[in-house]
Amino acid sequence: MKQTNCNQSNSWSSKKLRKSYLEFFKSYGHEIIPSASLLPDNDPTVLFTTAGMHPLVPYLLGEKHPLGRRLVDCQKCIRTDDIEEVGDETHLTFFEMLGNWSLGDYFKRESITMSYEFLTLELGIPKERLAVTVFEGDDSVPRDVETHHIWSSLGLRENQIFFYGRKENWWGPAGQTGPCGPDSEIFYDNGCNPCSDQCGPACNCGKYVEIWNNVFMEYKKEGNGTYTLLSQKNVDTGMGLERILAILNNKNSVFETDLFLPLIMKLEDLMGIKILNEINNMNSAEETMKQFRIIADHMRSITFLLADDKGIIPSNTEQGYILRRLIRRTLRLLKKCNINQNVLPEFAEIVILNNQEEYPELVRNRDFIFDQLKKEYHLFRKTLDSGLKKAEQFMRSLEGDRILSGDLAFKLYDTYGFPIELTIELAEEYGASVDLFEFNRKYKEHQEKSRVGAEGKFKGGLADQSERTARLHTATHLLNGALRIVLGNTVYQKGSNINADRLRFDFSFDRKLTEEELQKVEQIVNEAIDKDIPVICEELTTTEAKDQGAIGVFDHKYEQRVKVYTIQGYSKEICGGPHASKTSELKHFTILKEESSSAGVRRIKASIQED
Ligand code: SER
Repeated sequence: MKQTNCNQSNSWSSKKLRKSYLEFFKSYGHEIIPSASLLPDNDPTVLFTTAGMHPLVPYLLGEKHPLGRRLVDCQKCIRTDDIEEVGDETHLTFFEMLGNWSLGDYFKRESITMSYEFLTLELGIPKERLAVTVFEGDDSVPRDVETHHIWSSLGLRENQIFFYGRKENWWGPAGQTGPCGPDSEIFYDNGCNPCSDQCGPACNCGKYVEIWNNVFMEYKKEGNGTYTLLSQKNVDTGMGLERILAILNNKNSVFETDLFLPLIMKLEDLMGIKILNEINNMNSAEETMKQFRIIADHMRSITFLLADDKGIIPSNTEQGYILRRLIRRTLRLLKKCNINQNVLPEFAEIVILNNQEEYPELVRNRDFIFDQLKKEYHLFRKTLDSGLKKAEQFMRSLEGDRILSGDLAFKLYDTYGFPIELTIELAEEYGASVDLFEFNRKYKEHQEKSRVGAEGKFKGGLADQSERTARLHTATHLLNGALRIVLGNTVYQKGSNINADRLRFDFSFDRKLTEEELQKVEQIVNEAIDKDIPVICEELTTTEAKDQGAIGVFDHKYEQRVKVYTIQGYSKEICGGPHASKTSELKHFTILKEESSSAGVRRIKASIQED
């Protein structure tokens, strides 16, 4: 991120920025909503919450939000598709997205005017430093002259407004079909000379830094590829907190903001060096700085993932696998920095201290975080030890030109979490070398596979709001209710995941369920289905919901209205929906499997009859 001549004062803390954003939009009638979990509810198509709009998909599609039509928040997000880029000045796996929404309320003029006012008046960014992009139109959707007109009327000169096509100026749908629309992106112009005549916000020379996106969701992409107008016009905006914070403080990188500095300084202490002073003077500091940035970034992701109330733990599948990878990568990098003891809890403590006011789950789950970091550290040490044995075996069996094949080096990396640098060092000790060309080929192939896998999940649609998903969601509530009837009220939800085939429900309970208990649970759910009970949705305050015995997560920081779904006699839960309208739509419920999920947590997989 190249910046020069920035006029902003150097006094923006992350806390002040978050507060200022939320309060600004509150003053324009927006309700502040708390950040949703990093683990999406009942969405089989994506591993993590990747944008502020993600938890709001049902409302963008037309469902009524209990807090009204103007919302604002600061949403914690995780994106892992750019994980290999982390280490430069801007890429992150964990980040916070500031966002404001109009759910069928205001549209382009108000949205753009508020963004402009926030940037120029609240943050003090001179309007000359802004550049914006506007959709140029194509065969399906006309040129967005209205947005151009609004920016002009706010005083932006023609050379600050750029028209681009669909690649640059269209957002969504998140899945194959759904709400989408042209957007207008706002960039910070660092004041450098243009790199060429073609230079503009779409150019990556560094002159323009994207800070905010205003999406005008007035279209719906249909299954046949055409665009129809949505019944309601929405606005979805997103601004990366870390990036705007760096700009406001005249910093070249997000890692030089208060969100990261305590972590970087801790690393300096542990290594007894002063990297922050050296970074601009010494080339050799660059590699170390890169490692520091990755460690600092990953520690935020790790701590926030472990703090999530959904109780995620490191494992070999899905989100747990990503968490494990992040932890192991961090441990490997720490090892490279010659830090071999388990310092993960010390970094986690810094993340907790830095963020506990905004994210109280960090404090609630502090012991769990430390416990998991300790376990994972020991497990990794063990894996590393067995990897060492295997590696030595490979080395000893080398003959002739003594080159360790890329295949074996990759096996050490993939199965034993063995960093390639370690394999090279070890090979040297045995007077051997490593076929790095083949290793890199295998590594890239593996990366590509995970990328395609991740994209597949994403492209599958964030908005999997199919009727079957809704029915499985209702079945989850009935299952939760039935478990509490059979096993008692100490049972509570620890996780939920739905795909087209089945539901998966994790709950607190410390032993295997008996066959009779499982039969009883199944019977209760089917009894509720046979009774054809309506699924009633009400909007209540959290206090009212609690008083009426609703279950669910009561971690809302603000006294706010929530949706409560009731299936009389069986279930009353705080939940965002959507659900079946009556229980008979579920037809028949079958438990497929009951197993352990983690210590003190059981897991049930179950399904309902196909249509
Ligand atoms: N959905 C848009 C984004 O993620 C704006 O919030 O950029």
